[in-house]
Amino acid sequence: MSVFARKAAGVVQQRGGNVANITSAQIFEREKKYGAHNYKPLPVAISRGEGVHVWDVEGKRYFDFLSAYSAVNQGHCHPRLVEVMKQQVGKLTLTSRAFYNNILGEYEEYITNLFGYDKVLPMNTGVEGVETAVKLARRWAYDVKGVPENSATVVAAANNFWGRSIAAISSSTDPDSFSGFGPFVPGFQIVPYDDLEAVEKAIQHPHVAAFMVEPIQGEAGVVVPSPMYLKGVRQLCTKHNVLFIADEVQTGLGRTGKLLATYHDEVRPDIVVLGKALSGGMYPVSAVLADDPIMLTIGPGQHGSTYGGNPLGCRIAMEALQVLIDEKLCENSAKMGEILMGELRKLPREAVSLVRGKGLFCAILIESNVDAWQVCLKLRDNGVLAKNTHGHIIRFAPPLVINEAQVREAAEIIVKTVRSFL
Ligand SMILES: Cc1ncc(COP(=O)(O)O)c(C=O)c1O
Repeated sequence: MSVFARKAAGVVQQRGGNVANITSAQIFEREKKYGAHNYKPLPVAISRGEGVHVWDVEGKRYFDFLSAYSAVNQGHCHPRLVEVMKQQVGKLTLTSRAFYNNILGEYEEYITNLFGYDKVLPMNTGVEGVETAVKLARRWAYDVKGVPENSATVVAAANNFWGRSIAAISSSTDPDSFSGFGPFVPGFQIVPYDDLEAVEKAIQHPHVAAFMVEPIQGEAGVVVPSPMYLKGVRQLCTKHNVLFIADEVQTGLGRTGKLLATYHDEVRPDIVVLGKALSGGMYPVSAVLADDPIMLTIGPGQHGSTYGGNPLGCRIAMEALQVLIDEKLCENSAKMGEILMGELRKLPREAVSLVRGKGLFCAILIESNVDAWQVCLKLRDNGVLAKNTHGHIIRFAPPLVINEAQVREAAEIIVKTVRSFL
């Protein structure tokens, strides 16, 4: 029984009720007035979360079917994560890497053993993790592959998303991400996703350092490639002496039903990037995993981050990973994902043209006669939070602690809601 199920059954004491002293409408207005307008949130103001549920300031309960873009795979405010955070926060939080701390090495040993790589480089956000992977690949290209100085390239897939930094948008094909922010970082080449021929054509060039790809494209709308794609990528990268970078920031850590999405295809990338659920929503923690011939190309003073590898983040990350293992959340994701997608496939074809995904990483494609934003608003009214992407795609990615009764209850809400638009 998960800790959240035990809480719901009264085995663990529930926290006190929620007192609203500000309305949702006031929260929307205040953010609009004082905050940058770089997001368009669904109008719901959340003040509490526990497991698969969140509550708004008026006390209404929702199923969270976004999980903070897969950062809260372990469920909101997982008690074990709250506890380690509390314990560590009063002891030591940050030393910078100018000095050693007593937790970093323990974490490094733990995570490298778990994923089977020689070394880890700790960062904070996902975008910093991927940026680190790109730097490592370039460095490896010069030091090991023998690419002439300043001419290394990284090949990436169209419709990739790895964040908002200048380098990330330089490899983006989404005009919303890159328009108006040039000049861009050179050295990226784009090939279509799920196209091995295009990969081979691009990476034959002797200056290519790496091919970088999401095993399933998340922000593009949960785009699952053909079954042999990742195996093919692995073979081609090996054949042409090019590094295979897997951006598992969103697909990793149980989201697709395995600890890494690449495990489905039994391939081992040269560099793996993790983020989001590596801290279960507590605190930004990201990590880059690679073997010595790649990782040791970067020496002291050549890369880093003030917060990367801090003892608080390291403690949380170890516990966040151990929670996934102890609570068998990968297995649960696989099982619950099948049930969820089975229910979603009952959606009427006139409204939903496609259901796709793996594990609890699912999406539906809404037909043009239905407005996906309006569907999300109605879902909210009916108690399920989800957000559309690229206009017509709605992703469903609940915390991995969800149980069968909850999946069925939420799926019933989704099916009823979508049907009401016909
Ligand atoms: C695949 C992937 N990589 C990288 C990132 C960037 O992560 P962050 O927002 O923590 O910088 C994201 C964010 O959604 C992502 O989905």
